[in-house]
Amino acid sequence: LSTAFLPKIFKGKRILVTAGPTLESIDPVRALTNFSSGKMGYSIARVAQAMGAEVTLVSGPTSLTTPLVSHFESVTSAEEMYQAVMYAIAQQDIFIGVAAVADYRPAEYSAKKIKKSGQPLTLELIPNRDIIAEVAAMPNAPFCVGFAAESDDLLKHAEEKRQRKKLPLVVANIASDTMGKDDASIVLLDDEGTHTFSYAPKAELAATLLQHIANIMNI
Ligand code: CTP
Ligand code: CA
Repeated sequence: LSTAFLPKIFKGKRILVTAGPTLESIDPVRALTNFSSGKMGYSIARVAQAMGAEVTLVSGPTSLTTPLVSHFESVTSAEEMYQAVMYAIAQQDIFIGVAAVADYRPAEYSAKKIKKSGQPLTLELIPNRDIIAEVAAMPNAPFCVGFAAESDDLLKHAEEKRQRKKLPLVVANIASDTMGKDDASIVLLDDEGTHTFSYAPKAELAATLLQHIANIMNI
């Protein structure tokens, strides 16, 4: 997508985007993570910046080139992502949580490499904080957009998430259709209902999503 001709509708607005996976270390050589490539989040950050916004991108580990945005913060764990988001949140007009944040982390980090014993190994996991739910619950919260990557019952799970986290807008997709890919199909869920966008490059979907956000916000 050529971003040169996009309307600069977000001029004067600050947009915070999280992207990519998080990585939760188990020991010096091992970690828990997920299959997010970061492509959707990076596309949204790049297109939002091209549409005139001052974009802050908080990214988990990806293999992508850093896009042209005003502020870029690289993080590893969900807790680091939480801290980076909370540091920047007060100035933001819009928060778009595209990151696939790990829901759990190991209860204990082992500073020494865990040696195999040949026996089954049980790892205790404890829950991470829900970044977007906490942001949406803040007084004077920015306009919050969540993502929902599901394996089944897409609309049911996505709408349940929208209600539970009190998000005005959720972007839903089937995980296997989108993760790691350059194209995706998405469904937007808002107070008005659902809007389906079939297979397109992620940069195009990013422009569609950002225009939809601008419409809802009357900007
Ligand atoms: N999210 C977040 N912080 C977390 C977990 C999720 O900010 N600790 C955000 C994601 O960035 C996304 C939205 O919440 O915008 C939905 O993430 P998802 O994993 O689909 O929802 P969960 O509430 O974690 O539910 P589950 O994984 O059980 O489906
Ligand atoms: Ca989750």
